[in-house]
Amino acid sequence: MYAASVSAPSREVDDLPSPRGLPFIGNLHQLPPATHHLTLERWAAELGTPYMFRFGTTPVTVWNDIELSHAVMRERPHRYRRYAPIENILKEFGCNGLFSIEGAAWEPQRRLVMQALSIPHIKAFYPTLAAITERLRRRWEAAAHAGRVVDMIEDLKRFTVDVTSALAFGEDPNTLENERVLLQEQLGMLLPMLMTRVNAPFAYWHYVKFPRDRKFDEAMIAVHRHIRELMARARARMRDETSAHAPRNLLEAMLALRDASDSVITDDDVAANVLTMLVAGEETTATSIAWALLFLGTDDALQARVAACARRVLGDSAVCPGYGAMRELDLCEAVCTEASRLHPVAPYLSFEPLEEVRLQGVRLPAGTKMFMLNRPAMMDPHNYADPGRYDPDRWLHDHRHESTAPESASPRGAHEPRAYLQFGAGPRVCPGRHLAAVEMRLVVSMLTANFTAQLATNPAAIREVCAFTAVPSEMPMRLALR
Ligand code: HEM
Repeated sequence: MYAASVSAPSREVDDLPSPRGLPFIGNLHQLPPATHHLTLERWAAELGTPYMFRFGTTPVTVWNDIELSHAVMRERPHRYRRYAPIENILKEFGCNGLFSIEGAAWEPQRRLVMQALSIPHIKAFYPTLAAITERLRRRWEAAAHAGRVVDMIEDLKRFTVDVTSALAFGEDPNTLENERVLLQEQLGMLLPMLMTRVNAPFAYWHYVKFPRDRKFDEAMIAVHRHIRELMARARARMRDETSAHAPRNLLEAMLALRDASDSVITDDDVAANVLTMLVAGEETTATSIAWALLFLGTDDALQARVAACARRVLGDSAVCPGYGAMRELDLCEAVCTEASRLHPVAPYLSFEPLEEVRLQGVRLPAGTKMFMLNRPAMMDPHNYADPGRYDPDRWLHDHRHESTAPESASPRGAHEPRAYLQFGAGPRVCPGRHLAAVEMRLVVSMLTANFTAQLATNPAAIREVCAFTAVPSEMPMRLALR
């Protein structure tokens, strides 16, 4: 277990410092949904960590310690679980897949997803990835010709949904070339509603549905209809095959498992995982790339440097010509990694112990809510030299694995990769991180090699909006052909 707990004096959760709240609602009134992550970070700076606040009458402990975060994440699924309300709400959405499932059911599903998102699988899938990137280029070319401002978040989400569907389900919905995409809009409602309901003081939607809840219910019915049709088409393809072969994608692997005679999983489990993959792979990756555009679109010198790197690797091609060539595109990934250090897609991760634990001298009964903040450690000069500075070079090869001390011999100073927890850690670390890195390299190299991009709004107007993940309020850009 986490060692820092051993010698400290014992405290109870109620003994922790806490912002003053109100009876019944606790601190809810101080936590506007869209910016509550910023308030949690401010309280950490004011009160120190760990501290405690209340969602209604439920106490939530807040932590800021890299080693503790690693220890908690490592000890899953046996000693800690994800914040239980996430699973309860996702069950209601028909989305209790790999992200939220707990206990013995988690491991077999994890194995399937890991295989589907493995490097060899992504490598074999590269031609499709390049073709989808080329579609995005054509979309941006048309916008550049028309002088149209591009909503980059919207386009990047189309890109990531097409990629995830083609890779994991063997079907490419081509949302990039369909002007009005309902699926996109419907999926986009899931994470904000998850956050609203996870943080609600009680399950109001069991008693009364507001227009927003009704619209969401309709969207989920349509999404599930789409998923069942996808599953039926995959089954038909598998039946029609003349010779038996290994499953070609995650959906086929899940359906083969489901249809085996001793199966313990149901069609609902398969559908929940399809939805999980769509949601987990869409906004996270799109957002990480979008934040990088904020810096690229406001710094001509940086953009020219990334463009030169991209042009060198792409040669005459509009899109990176092969999986191997992507190795030379470290800078394209680094601009995204560095952007998400300053604007983390996951500002905090939330867990609960499954048994009583003692951490930093605090006794936490089983089920105590724990929020682990990610950003404060990434903005700590002991972990990253000059932390307020956007410096993608700190992630380039020579600077990795350097001493954590600020006075380190490295000319760039401290660089502690363990403080970067954007993909989580331990056995449940994000299985999509390689795919996400490939998407970042492909999109950033294609964009900078073919276009110049200028942010089409005042950068100060762009805010972080927390809707489970923290997304930019907007990222409009004007593109011109190079
Ligand atoms: C930049 C993009 C991404 C970010 C920042 C991100 C972030 C995360 C984080 C923080 C977790 C929780 C990890 C933990 O608990 O230790 C996670 C889990 C997960 N992610 Fe990602 N993710 C990204 C892309 C993707 C992609 C592209 C996919 C799939 C297409 C994906 C699928 C999943 C799944 C299925 C889980 C649950 C794993 C489990 O609980 O075993 N993610 N992701």
